[in-house]
Amino acid sequence: MALISRCYAVLGLEAGASLQEVHAAYRHLVKEWHPDLFPDDPLRQSQGQIRMAEINVAYSQLKAVAAALPRGRPPACSWDKSYSIGIRSVDKQHEIFFKMLNNFNDSYASSSIATADDKVTMKIYLYILNLRRYAFKHFVTEEEYMVKYHYPAYAEHRKKHDRFIKQLFKLEDDFYNSNKMSPNNITDFILSWLEEHIKRMDKDFGRYLNEELGIHFIP
Ligand SMILES: [Fe+2]
Ligand SMILES: [Fe+2]
Repeated sequence: MALISRCYAVLGLEAGASLQEVHAAYRHLVKEWHPDLFPDDPLRQSQGQIRMAEINVAYSQLKAVAAALPRGRPPACSWDKSYSIGIRSVDKQHEIFFKMLNNFNDSYASSSIATADDKVTMKIYLYILNLRRYAFKHFVTEEEYMVKYHYPAYAEHRKKHDRFIKQLFKLEDDFYNSNKMSPNNITDFILSWLEEHIKRMDKDFGRYLNEELGIHFIP
């Protein structure tokens, strides 16, 4: 983090400058400090060598950071009626889940290279944390309906919810301790879990309400 901030400072830029600004600053500094500009002045030449070495390192670092950033991706997924389980509040929460994933992707698509260190790390960490909190709230809502309507597969369903919360806790810890997972992998993991779970287990509960109890819609 300190290294990246220093790289910006070496190029005379504010942290958060765009890649284009980095390129422009580099070109400007080369014209100012390149040792070949001072063929008859050994002192300036040697100062230029030292300065250019520093500038080249900073420039390479910032380009490497930009290359490592996730590129903008298409939206993860959007809720549509095929995900509906027939309980409005639950459907709404599923919809919000998808929106959270899409917002996360969108924020990466517009990230500047400055966010490749502390800002992105914090953003991803808070994202996982918020998702875990939201998932917990959502699972409680769903489980309350299952208990209320005496759903026979409640225990099995709840186990899946509990396991997912544990996985999110682990993801959060792993990310905090070692930044092990890339943002794209995090989104992929959560999205595939969510899609699979809603389309299979949550919809099974919807079918139970519908077919066994004759309930077609709960507002
Ligand atoms: Fe659900
Ligand atoms: Fe569920």
